[in-house]
Amino acid sequence: MIARVYSASHLGIEALPVEVEVDLTPGTFYYVTVGLPDTAVKESQNRILSALKNSGFEAPIKKITVNLAPADIIKEGSSFDLPIAVAILAAQGIIPKEKLKNLFFMGELALDGRIKPVKGVLSVSVMVRKMKGKTLVTPLANGGEAAVVEGVTAIPVANLTEVVEWLNSEKEIAPASAEKLPTAETFPDELDFIDVKGQPHVRRAIEVAAAGGHNMLMVGPPGSGKSMIARRLPTIMPEWTLEEAIESSRVHSIAGLLPSDSPLLPRRPFRSPHHTVSDAGLVGGGHSPILPGEVSLSHYGVLFLDELPEFRRSALEVLRQPLEDGKVVISRASMSVTFPSNFMLVCAMNPCPCGYETDPIRECKCTPHQINRYRQKISGPMLDRMDIHVEVPAVKYQELKSDSGSETSAAIRERITKTHKTQNIRFAKSSIFRNAEMGAKQIKKHCEIGGSSEKLLKSAMERLGLSARAYTRTLKVARTIADLAGCEKIKTEHTAEAVQYRAIN
Ligand SMILES: Nc1ncnc2c1ncn2[C@@H]1O[C@H](COP(=O)(O)OP(=O)(O)OP(=O)(O)O)[C@@H](O)[C@H]1O
Ligand SMILES: [Mg+2]
Ligand SMILES: [Zn+2]
Repeated sequence: MIARVYSASHLGIEALPVEVEVDLTPGTFYYVTVGLPDTAVKESQNRILSALKNSGFEAPIKKITVNLAPADIIKEGSSFDLPIAVAILAAQGIIPKEKLKNLFFMGELALDGRIKPVKGVLSVSVMVRKMKGKTLVTPLANGGEAAVVEGVTAIPVANLTEVVEWLNSEKEIAPASAEKLPTAETFPDELDFIDVKGQPHVRRAIEVAAAGGHNMLMVGPPGSGKSMIARRLPTIMPEWTLEEAIESSRVHSIAGLLPSDSPLLPRRPFRSPHHTVSDAGLVGGGHSPILPGEVSLSHYGVLFLDELPEFRRSALEVLRQPLEDGKVVISRASMSVTFPSNFMLVCAMNPCPCGYETDPIRECKCTPHQINRYRQKISGPMLDRMDIHVEVPAVKYQELKSDSGSETSAAIRERITKTHKTQNIRFAKSSIFRNAEMGAKQIKKHCEIGGSSEKLLKSAMERLGLSARAYTRTLKVARTIADLAGCEKIKTEHTAEAVQYRAIN
């Protein structure tokens, strides 16, 4: 008596179909799982047998062989409990086998037969969509997550008894309805740029950064508002598309970091790892399962490295590849996994170890040697990779009191959204989206500058000792500034502003 049920496993954020095959043969009781199960799958045996018994189904006193195919992909986690239990019931003839052909199952079983939520439902739902005409049976709590993917029918189930009744057409279960995609207007913690007083130069710099997808470094004394400003960056980025929301949420789903009441991240992620974070924590790692790191958890959002010089040098080195490629490849002997990592990097630091070197009122107690050593902790190549460097001065008391110049996040976001549209048209035929991602060929095509801009750039390079990499970055920032001004041509004033953002070297 053989029965087959479909489920899925994960490789990175991708889900792959897995066939669960159960064979019952007469004889004394014996239970074996084959097909590379990890420990969680082995443990599932006890849960499955208890859940069957406690739901009123006699566990078959027979030799039970569970085969998970294909054998060469690693199956992780407890989400195979439900498909295995369903296959055992089908092999016993308790549910009709022909009903199972177009269904995918995932769910962890509690000993009493309840079905508990599992990780990674969103990815499986995306996979099910590709297969067309299939239905996904998910734990009740994951129903909304599965149904987010348009075109997928998700049947939310609470316990094993209900699943059996549904498969025997004794009970109807309404498909889950998709959770509505929250919009950028809904920042529940009410972060808004209107709270940031004064600092016109910094507010402008962050607008340019968000407009072109440029990385940014802020340098300023304690309390000057660096963290406050960084935290508000996601509120001025354009509303994300459903596809972006799904892709970023899949990464969080794999890491088990999606809030249980929301299948999609409510907004673009903002990640701020502590400087003691390990390299694996930053870029991803581990064995079984391989988990995404901070660079992937901030996909389509912001990665904020506060107190940049406190990070270990190796941490900054491992960031380089994901920064350049927009993805991370983690290789193990048995497999290699790719996670997306398209994020905006924002870094903050004090100008010196005590923090007050640039503060007009408080006195800096550091020696020139200490200051030098502190700054040298950030390697030249890392500084080079920051498109925009901005000095954040201490805020003056009068400025904190006045509302002049403050704008809401919504007003700033409107301008940025407009420049993103310009860039979408510009890059429609290429694989990139933002000015910051332009390569040499695209820079040549889109960043042409006139004679006076050229002269200005040349003298700035000499004066500031800029590298060739810094030069191309300045051109890209100038392109974004021109976009914000609605100009097709980069003018001298745009280049001049871009040069200002390279002051720290
Ligand atoms: N421009 C500003 N407008 C309004 N409030 C501000 C501004 N700058 C700072 N503040 C206030 O000062 C507090 C401290 O700012 P914040 O923590 O962002 O400083 P920081 O530059 O990150 O300092 P540190 O170097 O110590 O991390 C903020 O929570 C806010 O209340
Ligand atoms: Mg801070
Ligand atoms: Zn100091």
